[in-house]
Amino acid sequence: MQASDPCDLFHKCYQKEGLFSNVREGKDNYYAQPILEGPLGPHMTFNGQKMIVWSINDYLGLAGHPEPTARAKEVLEAFGTAYPMGARLMSGFTQNHQTFEAKLAKFAQKESALLFNYGYLGVLGVITSIMGPRDTVIIDHDSHACIVDGAKLATTRRNQFRVFRHNDMDHLEKILKSINQDRKGGILIVTDGIYGMTGEVAPLKEICALKEKYNARLLVDDAHGIGIMGATGRGTGEHLGVQDKIDLYFSTFAKCFAGIGGFVAGDKEIIEHITWNARPVIFAKNLPLIYSDSLSATLDVIEREPERREKLWEIATYMQRRFKEEGFDIGNTTSPITPVFLSISGLEAIKDAIHILREEFHIFASGVMYPVVPRGVFLLRLVPSCRHTFDDVNKTIEAFIQIKERIIKKH
Ligand SMILES: Cc1ncc(COP(=O)(O)O)c(C=O)c1O
Repeated sequence: MQASDPCDLFHKCYQKEGLFSNVREGKDNYYAQPILEGPLGPHMTFNGQKMIVWSINDYLGLAGHPEPTARAKEVLEAFGTAYPMGARLMSGFTQNHQTFEAKLAKFAQKESALLFNYGYLGVLGVITSIMGPRDTVIIDHDSHACIVDGAKLATTRRNQFRVFRHNDMDHLEKILKSINQDRKGGILIVTDGIYGMTGEVAPLKEICALKEKYNARLLVDDAHGIGIMGATGRGTGEHLGVQDKIDLYFSTFAKCFAGIGGFVAGDKEIIEHITWNARPVIFAKNLPLIYSDSLSATLDVIEREPERREKLWEIATYMQRRFKEEGFDIGNTTSPITPVFLSISGLEAIKDAIHILREEFHIFASGVMYPVVPRGVFLLRLVPSCRHTFDDVNKTIEAFIQIKERIIKKH
C-alpha cells in the first residue's frame, strides 16, 4: 500500500493532518516545541538568549529546591531510579508510598488518598473506575482534556455524558433536573478548580449546593489551585470554604509541586474502590520511590513556608493590576494565572507577537490557541511564580504595551 493512497492508515501522517497541524509544519523548536535551557526558574535561556520565563507553572519556586533534591539523591543512592518494580497491586508499593498518601489525605482534609503516576492518567483512572453503566457524568465545557477524555472513556450510552456551558450554573441545574426526571443511577459532576488557561475560578460553592440538591457527587481537579489557593494552600475548596463538600479532591504534582504524578483524596471506602478498579493503577507501574519520597519532602516545604504563596500573590496581584491599568484585557482571572487576550487573529499575527516578545524584549510567554482554547481565541498566558520580581513584571508590561501597538497596526 502507498502512503499517497487515502485508504492507507498512514496517509494522514504524510498529509500532516491532526492537532496543531498549523504550527507543527515548522519543526523549528521555536514556535513548535521550544527548548528552554538552564536551571528551572523565572530566568532561563532560550535560543542562546536569557529570558524572563512566564511559562513553567513553578508557582511556589520549588523546582530544584534543596530538600526534595537531597531526598531524591538519598533514594537514588540506596535504591536507584526504578524501585519499586511493578504495578501497585503486585509488587510496586512501599511503606513510604503509604506514608506519603496519608500525608496527602491529611493535607486535603480527607480520610484517604491514592497516588497516580501522572495527573492526566489519574483523572482518567478516577472517572472510569467510579462510573458504572447506569451513571451519568456532567462536566464543564472548558474542562481540561483529561476530564473530557476520562468522561468519554467512562461512558457508552447516549446522554450518559453531559456538558454544561462554562461556569453556567443555570445550565448545570437544567441538566441535573432533566437527569433526575428519569434517574437510573448516580451522577458525577467534574470540574477544574482553576481553569489553567484563563485563571478563572470554578464556582464551587454553587456547584456544591447543586450537587447536594440533586444528590450528585463532585470531583474537582485542582491542578492549578493546590498550594496556591486558600489560607493554608489547601486549594480552591479551601479558598471558597467548601473543601469538606468536595467528594473527590484531585491534583497533579506537575505544577506547584514541580514534580510528576498526581493524587486523589476522599472517603476511605471510595479511595479503596478506586485503588482496586482504576486501570492506570492496576495495569501500569507505580510512581517510583525517587519521585514519591521527593514529593513528600516538597509537601513539607509547602506546609512550612507559606511565605512562598504570599510572595506569589504579591507578584500576581501587582502584574494583574498593571495590565488592567494599561488597558489590557486579562479576562476574568481571580487566580495568579494571567491571560492576556490580544485582539489579533491568524497564525502570522500570533507568531509575530511571540517573535517580537522573545527577540526584542527577551520575554518567553506561551501563546495559547485552539485546540487548547476554543476556536478564534488567542491569548498569551503568563504564569507568575514567587521567584519572579517586580522588575520582571515592569519589563513585561512595557514589552506588552509596545507589542500591542505594533502588532495591531501591522495586522
Ligand atoms: C487541570 C489539569 N489536570 C490534569 C493535568 C495533567 O497533569 P499531568 O501533567 O500530571 O499529567 C493538567 C496539566 O496540564 C491540568 O492542568
